[in-house]
Amino acid sequence: SYLGIDLGTSGLRALLVDDAGRPLGATERHYGVAHPHAGWSEQDPADWITAFQGAVADLRAAHPEFADLRGIGVAGHMHGACALDGADRVLRPAILWNDTRSHAEAAVLDADPRFRALTGNIVFPGFTAPKLAWMAAHEPDLFAQAARVLLPAAYLNLWLTGEAVGDLSDASGTAWLDTGGRDWSDDLLAATGMTRAQMPRLVEGSGAAGQLRADLAAEWGLSAPVTVAGGAGDNAAAACGIGAMAEGAGFVSLGTSGVLLAARDGYAPAPDTALHSFCHAVPGRWYQMGVMLAATDSLNWLGRVTGAKPAALTADLGPLRAPGAVRFLPYLSGERTPHNDPAIRASLTGMAAATDRDDLTRAVLEGVAFGLADSLAALQSTGAQPTQLMAIGGGARSEYWLQVIATALDVTLTLPEDGEFGAALGAARLGMVAAGAGTVDQVMTPPRVTRHVAPDPALRDAFAQAHADFRAAYPAIRSVQ
Ligand code: XUL
Repeated sequence: SYLGIDLGTSGLRALLVDDAGRPLGATERHYGVAHPHAGWSEQDPADWITAFQGAVADLRAAHPEFADLRGIGVAGHMHGACALDGADRVLRPAILWNDTRSHAEAAVLDADPRFRALTGNIVFPGFTAPKLAWMAAHEPDLFAQAARVLLPAAYLNLWLTGEAVGDLSDASGTAWLDTGGRDWSDDLLAATGMTRAQMPRLVEGSGAAGQLRADLAAEWGLSAPVTVAGGAGDNAAAACGIGAMAEGAGFVSLGTSGVLLAARDGYAPAPDTALHSFCHAVPGRWYQMGVMLAATDSLNWLGRVTGAKPAALTADLGPLRAPGAVRFLPYLSGERTPHNDPAIRASLTGMAAATDRDDLTRAVLEGVAFGLADSLAALQSTGAQPTQLMAIGGGARSEYWLQVIATALDVTLTLPEDGEFGAALGAARLGMVAAGAGTVDQVMTPPRVTRHVAPDPALRDAFAQAHADFRAAYPAIRSVQ
């Protein structure tokens, strides 16, 4: 069997699959996020280990197949900084991807042209390098003791194997990686007062990071050697989970945040578009994605202010309609793609006395879809042409929303069969490939598609016009905020 770990922001999901990669069972252990100051977001890596041990206990108790474990892959929330001392002790709580304290340091690094040139990305405040620049400025004693800086998934690799090894897909979100050359950049590390010696050794996500420590193997009742894969950032792992490995394949994920991801056969960075251009978790591939910060979060917000459950808001919207006069700009938490604007906030415009809850709901669903359409336009400007996108995440349960997105993006959405196909499955698949259970092509297959949602040709022009109005609204709203 093989174990896939999805180290998420709110909890750790562990999935056990059989030797053919079919899910046997999963479990989840939760932990908190600390916000000691506004904009701060931290976790104690010890909580991840506790969750990991608890999840292993659950799986061992429920599945005798665990005793035959051959490989492990870890996917993690990206960009987080775990600073360790010379004895690999945690120096301070990990600073997470959604922590914005280092926005000033990020702007300084982003103004140094070497960063965009080598990483292919904007230095976003959430990325790792500005966090270390913040530590250097605000916690110089701790910064001076930082013998190692690991991303969350690499921290778990260290615990599992005893070695500091990270994967290229996750390393792409640090702002220290030469993303085209698939290696650390000594120049970019030096620009933040760091060296390669502080970084984990890099391997491909589907390559081997090392072997499970003998003492952990004994504790878990395992006798055969267990290979630990390089692992991945969570979005690359999710792509592995649905088989989005090569040009033309991608997904739209409607979670708290929204992600539009396209797998790429080559490296085609476009930092000015605020796209993320990252190494994929397998050799010779990259992926690009637009990230919007409030997708289902926008609908949840409308639910809170109207006192209705999000599912109730979207339940009776009837057949797809052309967008009305109400426009929603979905920037409740600022935006990454396409604006890279942490300060912008959301707006609702165009309401009349007769505007009702359904009109507002449609406007919110449309606004999120137009935000995703902005990401698609950015992707297309780099030459990506995803012909079909798999719709995943909780928001994909709304039929009306799927139709809005298909028509606003003018792309057919595919719906996978029910089941496990998220980052935990992708991580387990990385464990399989790393342990020699099969090749990337054999293991990273797409799930069965149960249904297609095609754009409505009769409404395409109306959606394109409303999208143009949506784009024009941003600079206008920006100017009064
Ligand atoms: C990606 C990103 C998030 C985190 C947390 O750039 O910030 O997807 O990985 O899930």
